[in-house]
Amino acid sequence: MRTASKMMFTVAAVSALALTACEGEGAGADEVDSDAAPEDLTVGVAMPTQTYERWLNDGAAVEDGLEEMGYNVELQYADDDIPTQSQQIDQMITSGVDVLIVASIDGSALTSQLDAAEAEGIPVIAYDRLLTNSENVDFYVTFDNYEVGVNQANSLLYGLGVLDESFEPADDAPDETLNVELFAGSLDDNNAHLFWQGAIDTLEPYMEDGTIEVPSEQTDINQAATQRWEQETAQQRMENLLTTHYNDGTELHGVLAPADPLSRGIITALRNDGWGDSIEDGLPIVTGQDAEIATVSLIADGVQHSTIFKDTRMLADQAVEAANDYLSGEEPEPNDTETYDNGEIVVPSYLLEVEMVLEENYEEILVDSGYYTEEQVEDGQL
Ligand code: BGC
Repeated sequence: MRTASKMMFTVAAVSALALTACEGEGAGADEVDSDAAPEDLTVGVAMPTQTYERWLNDGAAVEDGLEEMGYNVELQYADDDIPTQSQQIDQMITSGVDVLIVASIDGSALTSQLDAAEAEGIPVIAYDRLLTNSENVDFYVTFDNYEVGVNQANSLLYGLGVLDESFEPADDAPDETLNVELFAGSLDDNNAHLFWQGAIDTLEPYMEDGTIEVPSEQTDINQAATQRWEQETAQQRMENLLTTHYNDGTELHGVLAPADPLSRGIITALRNDGWGDSIEDGLPIVTGQDAEIATVSLIADGVQHSTIFKDTRMLADQAVEAANDYLSGEEPEPNDTETYDNGEIVVPSYLLEVEMVLEENYEEILVDSGYYTEEQVEDGQL
C-alpha cells in the first residue's frame, strides 16, 4: 500500500524546474485541429462510477455543456473498476477523440493511457481528481480540496460546541473530553489525502490539548481509509468501532466522515446500535461532503450535522470551457499554478470554492440558489 506522504502530491512552493516542465509537456492546443467544425470533433469523458449521485450529475452536466456547443461526446462510467476505466480510455483514444476529460478511479493507474493520448496529440483534462505520476496531463479542474477538509473539521468542532457560530473558540465549550472517530476516503484518490490533511491540521491542536480524543486510536489515514469510497465499508467499520470501543458505555460525540454516502453508512450503524434517530435524540455529530439530496434531507431533519457543497455545475462548466479552449486552438486559463504537483509536473489548475452546509443555512445555499427545490429536500430525492 502506498503511504500518505507519497500519494499526496501537492506542494507549497514551486521549483523553477517544475514550472519549466509544466509549460513544455502535454498535448496542448497546438496539436488540435482548431479549424474543424464542432460537429466533427469529439470529447471523451471518463467518469468513475454511477453509484455516487455526484458523478451522475457531473457526467450529465459535462455532456450537456459540450453538446450545447455542438461537440460530440463519448461519456463512459467505469463501475469503480480500474481495468474497465483503462479500457474505456484506450478505446476513446483508438476511436479518435479530440480531447479527454478524466475523473479517475486511481489517479496513478492511467499513465499508459496518458502516454497514448500524448502520442496522438489529445489534450487531457483531469476532472476533480488529480491524474498523477505523468507529465501528460494538460489541465486540472477541481475544488479547493484542502479547504474541504478544513471545513469538515470546523463543522465538526462547531457541532461539538468547541467552536461558536463564527468558528471562534466557544465561551461555553463543553468541559468534558469529546470522543470522535475519523474516516477517510479511498487511498488511491489524491483528493482523499487532501481532505484528510485539511481536517487533521484543523483538529490536531484540539487532539493535542485533550479537547478531543479518538478512543479507537485509529488516527492514521491508512486505518481510517475507505477503499473505493464504499458506503457499506464505512458502515462496517463504524459497526466494528462501536463493538470494540463503545460497548462499555463510552460516549461517542462525533464522527469525521469525508463523503455523504459514507456518512449515511455511519449513521445507519449508529442508529442500528441505538444511538438515537437524530442529533437531538443522541446521535453523534456526523460530517459529510457533496450535498447529496438524501443527505441534505437528513440535515434538514437534524440527523446529519453537515456536508460540503461543491457546485458540480460550475466544475462541469470549467471542464467544458477548457475543452472548448483546446478545440479552438487556445490554452485554458488556470487560476492556480502552484498547488497540484502530480509527482512529475505541477498541473495548471482551475480551483473552485466550497461551502459548508448546516441545518441553519441549507435553505439559503441550496434551495434559494435553485440547486434543489424544497420538495426535493423534503422527499430526499431528485
Ligand atoms: C470527490 C468527492 C467524492 C469522492 C467519492 C472525491 O474525489 O472529490 O466529491 O465524494 O471522490 O466519490
